Amino acid sequence: MGKPIDAVIIGGGMITNDLILPTVYHLQRTGELGTIDICALNNAPLKELHSSPALKEAFPGQDFTPHPSLDEPEDKMCPDLFKEVLDSLPPRQAVIVALPDQLHYGAVKEALLRDQHVLCVKPLVLKYEQSIELEKLAYERGLFIGVEYHKRFDRRSLLARKDYRNGLFGEFAMGEARMIEPYYYRFSNFQNWFTADKTDPFVYVGCPYVDLVYFISGLKPVSVSVEGVKLPFPNGKEAFMWAVGRVRFENGALLNVIDGLGYPDDGGGSNDQGLKMYCEGDGKSGMIEHNDQNRGAVYSYLKDIGPGGTYYNYVNPDFFKMVPWEGDGLKPIGYGPESVEASSVLSSVSRKKPPHCQEMNRSINAVN
Ligand SMILES: NC(=O)c1ccc[n+]([C@@H]2O[C@H](COP(=O)([O-])OP(=O)(O)OC[C@H]3O[C@@H](n4cnc5c(N)ncnc54)[C@H](O)[C@@H]3O)[C@@H](O)[C@H]2O)c1
Repeated sequence: MGKPIDAVIIGGGMITNDLILPTVYHLQRTGELGTIDICALNNAPLKELHSSPALKEAFPGQDFTPHPSLDEPEDKMCPDLFKEVLDSLPPRQAVIVALPDQLHYGAVKEALLRDQHVLCVKPLVLKYEQSIELEKLAYERGLFIGVEYHKRFDRRSLLARKDYRNGLFGEFAMGEARMIEPYYYRFSNFQNWFTADKTDPFVYVGCPYVDLVYFISGLKPVSVSVEGVKLPFPNGKEAFMWAVGRVRFENGALLNVIDGLGYPDDGGGSNDQGLKMYCEGDGKSGMIEHNDQNRGAVYSYLKDIGPGGTYYNYVNPDFFKMVPWEGDGLKPIGYGPESVEASSVLSSVSRKKPPHCQEMNRSINAVN
């Protein structure tokens, strides 16, 4: 194996803390990634990542280079600093874009223009034309863009895809999905970017299920209508706290997706999510049903350490948990780390990409 590629993460918020940085740290200690730099708007979130007890326990002795540096004043905002960091990166390394939805397009483009491979959290962009532009740019330069739809790596999605494509359910006709994130998100940094003029819960957490129906069935979405419920954040800014999207697929099938920032903080499980697909067979119907919230593991803690400060919780080791392994600290496991790993490490052109992460999902962007 040659020198491992270096990683730059743009965005130091929740998804970087919960999924991306642990995965990237693990790949660094197994020799698959080199240096790690993280850029944020200011250094406050970087200080939190740097001092996180959970990350220190799991990855003893590992660190990242923060931009802005930790000794800058916390109120110094640096929206363009990531471009300087990209300028200093040798070509064809891995740039992981974990910014608010509306900033993905600009950051992915800046990275591609500097000949960098990209892993972008979903949704890739907010307009169909933007996805075509980025695809063309990447293709011309021989660069990889992975969109981090980690549900594609869930074992149940892969099984459903195989069985659907073998004709075991019939043809998708009618479905519903839900992804309701917790109420406490309303008190987070979301107040600064999740505003009604920029995005909505369907764009934010509806797209993984639209993508998943495509991933399982191979059917592309062709039209969408979305309605929402607007409410103020604690800071007074208006947002769509709830949204419902109805998507029509190319064979005429319909999928209804409800989304929101409103799963009760006292509820078991960190959110509410699942998918049901009804299919037409020959003289009978088939069905796929995934309960993605309660996967059968329930823990009742002595302390209020669950999401939202809960005691009683549905635990999901399928997506992401850090567990003992043969080395020091803890190892991130689940389809989340597998998804980040597939795109960030495989963005090295010397390695083969699995078919399901090669697909640049144009269709999902068409509906956003
Ligand atoms: N795949 C998933 O399941 C999943 C889950 C959560 C979030 N996401 C996506 O991840 C993205 C980020 O979400 P989050 O929850 O981490 O948000 P967040 O608000 O917690 O973090 C946003 C981060 O972006 C940084 N930032 C903003 N402008 C910047 C700039 N100009 N330069 C550098 N950094 C900048 C902020 O400093 C902050 O660290 C969103 O697009 C969201 O849709 C995906």
